[in-house]
Amino acid sequence: MCGIVGYIGENNCVPVLINGLKRLEYRGYDSAGIGILIDNHPLVIKNKGKVSELQSKIEKLKLSSPIGIGHTRWATHGEPNEINAHPHCNGDKSLFLIHNGIIENFETLKKGLQQLGYTFLSETDSEVLVHLIDSFLKRGNNLFKSVRMALTEVEGTYGIAVVYEGEPDKIVAARKGSPLVIGIGDNEHFIASDVSAIIAHTSQVVYLDDGELVEVYKDHFCAKTIADADIEKEVFEITTTLEEIDRGGYPHFMLKEIIEQPESVFNSMRGRILLEQGTAKLGGLELVADRLANSKRIIISACGTSWHAALVGEYMFEQFARIPTEVEYASEFRYRNPIVGSEDAIFFISQSGETADTLAALKEAKNRGALSLGICNVVGSTIARESQAGVYIHAGPEIGVASTKAFTSQLVVLALITLLIARKKTMSLVDGKNIALELEKIPEKIKQILKLNEHIENIAEEFKNATNFLYLGRGYNFPVALEGALKLKEISYIHAEGYPAAEMKHGPIALIDKNMPAIFIAPKDSTYDKIISNIQEVKARKGRIIAVASESDDTIDKLVDYTIKIPDTIRMLMPILSVIPLQLLAYHIAVKKGLNVDQPRNLAKSVTVE
Ligand code: G6P
Repeated sequence: MCGIVGYIGENNCVPVLINGLKRLEYRGYDSAGIGILIDNHPLVIKNKGKVSELQSKIEKLKLSSPIGIGHTRWATHGEPNEINAHPHCNGDKSLFLIHNGIIENFETLKKGLQQLGYTFLSETDSEVLVHLIDSFLKRGNNLFKSVRMALTEVEGTYGIAVVYEGEPDKIVAARKGSPLVIGIGDNEHFIASDVSAIIAHTSQVVYLDDGELVEVYKDHFCAKTIADADIEKEVFEITTTLEEIDRGGYPHFMLKEIIEQPESVFNSMRGRILLEQGTAKLGGLELVADRLANSKRIIISACGTSWHAALVGEYMFEQFARIPTEVEYASEFRYRNPIVGSEDAIFFISQSGETADTLAALKEAKNRGALSLGICNVVGSTIARESQAGVYIHAGPEIGVASTKAFTSQLVVLALITLLIARKKTMSLVDGKNIALELEKIPEKIKQILKLNEHIENIAEEFKNATNFLYLGRGYNFPVALEGALKLKEISYIHAEGYPAAEMKHGPIALIDKNMPAIFIAPKDSTYDKIISNIQEVKARKGRIIAVASESDDTIDKLVDYTIKIPDTIRMLMPILSVIPLQLLAYHIAVKKGLNVDQPRNLAKSVTVE
């Protein structure tokens, strides 16, 4: 949520900021701005709308500056407009600041500052920070101390970067709950809310932890805790490449990421399948694997698409590892005083590794002594670092706001974890080998499904004007129904509901008429006959039906209006295949409606606020 980028060095910061903001736009895209020092005088330029609009405004000015910060916003307090956009300035415009997060006590702080004579221009919570810092500067403190002291009064979350004309050789940045990374270059330093913004310039990074501040100069940086203790930070080498985060000729990131799935899914399992032993090797879980296999209960907590992956994980763990498993929205888990302890293992699934609710749930679980495990995509992300152990899904950077390849990779990793723990328990070598073999065939099968792209696009043309959709599936494909409906909602703004197919009779059937398309996920498995009965029920009410079915099934065509035939696999892995047509269908419907697929309205890729 909101993107932050900063530069200090010997080059012109303006292109660094603009290009960085473009890379960060997936985090928020309703307004953007930069603040720079020109001959030590602050200049702040902001704009409502996309970074490209800000860029046109700035390019005309031919600006050059060795220090600056930039921000792309996802509004929390105050509508998206130029005034509410960041950077925010103090009264005499000597100080400017960008902020990602939410200041929860901003009303109280604001009242106090107003009593001191401060006036506020914007409706944001963030503006409070700049005046608060100013109030400490005015009392004779230097910038670093002023920021540190201001932050001791703040409740909430922040990733901030601040520049002050009185100390033009530094950027001060701080983090609590919103990610911040420092990039180290040759006589230059970068600040960013994630590495994608600075990857073009450096691969050497330092991740700030909660409660840490940093003073960044062109040739060095000093980190401290908010309590003023010096800290040594470890430098990490990042391996993500620029090509990985580029669109690579595709019209949208979402399409690129859907098409990439044979490789991303392969990368998730690469080197992790031990075929002969019928199990998986997951380095990140080695030290805790026995404790995990012996846990009395597993909980999987997540948000959004990752929560749907968790539901599939529940089916896998219970079926094969025979460990009672529950799935819980992270936002619910953290606030309901959950009964968990040292005999529980809790997985936190998060593509970004930064989702605020998932992170808070992880902290809650850790405090209660549960084994807390992360399943993340972004290497070095907060959830990955805060977990006691975990597994990276290695899907590569996912930029499209609607998650696609991360979902299928999460499912692969959940299947690998299932193998690992089930083989430690009662699963036979033969069964383990069979699952491992089937897993290895998944990338090829995805390639086959992707060949149906044109067929699915034609179906999208037929249904693009529908205003409601019902997605129905049973067993392992019930979470896929939820995920298919979510994909359509997110990017096409069409109302869609996912339901367990049998539950349809208890309500949604009332909605069915000739205008209501129903999408059945109906591969040939043990629930096939039951789902055919559900199809008949919809057909009897003149509903239009699209079925995602097995390629070996030639009877279903007679029952439904459209079929999308996918290869067979074992039940536990079917969601990895059956979701792909639904991703493509949502994608094509949204494109045909002329919508911004990669940056749907009101959404953000990484939700770092509650
Ligand atoms: C946002 C994104 C979703 C994502 C969810 C959870 O809502 O738009 O695509 O599924 O956050 O994100 P996470 O990074 O924790 O998986």
